[in-house]
Amino acid sequence: MSHIFLNAFSWLYKSKQTSFSVKGLKVKNRLGLAAGLDKNAMQVKQFDDIGFGFIEVGTITPNAQYGNKKPRVQRLIKEESLLNSLGFPNDGVEKIKARLSKVSKEICLGVNIGPNKDTGPDNIINDYLFCYKELHEYADFVTLNISSPNTPNLRKLHNIESFTKIIKAILIERDLHATKPKILIKLSPDEEVSNYRNIINTINETDIDGVIISNTTNDEILKEQLNVGHLPGGISGKSLRNSSNKILKEIKSIISDEKIIVAVGGVFDVDSYNEKFELGADLVQMYTGLIYEGPNLVKRIIENDKQISRNS
Ligand SMILES: Cc1cc2nc3c(=O)[nH]c(=O)nc-3n(C[C@H](O)[C@H](O)[C@H](O)COP(=O)(O)O)c2cc1C
Repeated sequence: MSHIFLNAFSWLYKSKQTSFSVKGLKVKNRLGLAAGLDKNAMQVKQFDDIGFGFIEVGTITPNAQYGNKKPRVQRLIKEESLLNSLGFPNDGVEKIKARLSKVSKEICLGVNIGPNKDTGPDNIINDYLFCYKELHEYADFVTLNISSPNTPNLRKLHNIESFTKIIKAILIERDLHATKPKILIKLSPDEEVSNYRNIINTINETDIDGVIISNTTNDEILKEQLNVGHLPGGISGKSLRNSSNKILKEIKSIISDEKIIVAVGGVFDVDSYNEKFELGADLVQMYTGLIYEGPNLVKRIIENDKQISRNS
């Protein structure tokens, strides 16, 4: 699915959708676009046209950066998966901010933020704070991405001390401004269960609004099985589904009821979409399924979802 296709034809998919609230977040339906596809917020309108109920842009870093060297995205066709080691190529806060200011307020917009690759460990919090400060007023929710496997040391932010520091700093920042988007944390699927417990306990004790489960997996055994053990990057798509769902179930059992759970990883059809809700999700996102199946998949899923809500 190319940029050109979307620009030319997305309007053909457009249909009227009425927003409703999911735990305080106003969405058009429960299927969203996951972060990473519209990193630079170039096609928010087009992704809205093809039917997504909410759209997450980014990951956005303070300064523009190129990302890792190419090749950095590989299709694992037989397994309907992707391996990517992009490393947050993006246009940076200043340019993207100008685009976000033009997005229709009717669209539920998520802004996913992270640090620049060359930011030292002592300054990482400042990168999140800078992005938050500059971009929060355009966002319905801001996602703190602490889980990309392609930025050195990023996943160390799952360490409970660093994690607590970062969320406290962001919550203080949110209090300073009139516009208060929801704040979600995007988690890795590759942590020890005991660490999810620590993280979720901390979230339960604070005003963080919820979690996104999960980013791509860096699991070495899985990568060996897929014959990409020697390559950098994280796996998405069908091969991620099981591990992502396992973490979703675990987290659902410990997180407070009022927190938002956005589930993402391996959604390819109505069944894999519904499964996320059965495991406790409030909202679902998709990336790799869209690459393999195209925009008709979005239509199929949301039509089916409407059917379910009509019947219930
Ligand atoms: C090529 C590619 C780039 C991605 N870039 C980002 C990113 O910049 N930030 C982020 O939080 N997640 C990123 N992701 C992760 C997705 O948002 C999603 O969490 C993951 O792919 C699992 O969902 P899926 O199986 O539906 O693809 C990326 C995924 C892919 C495949």
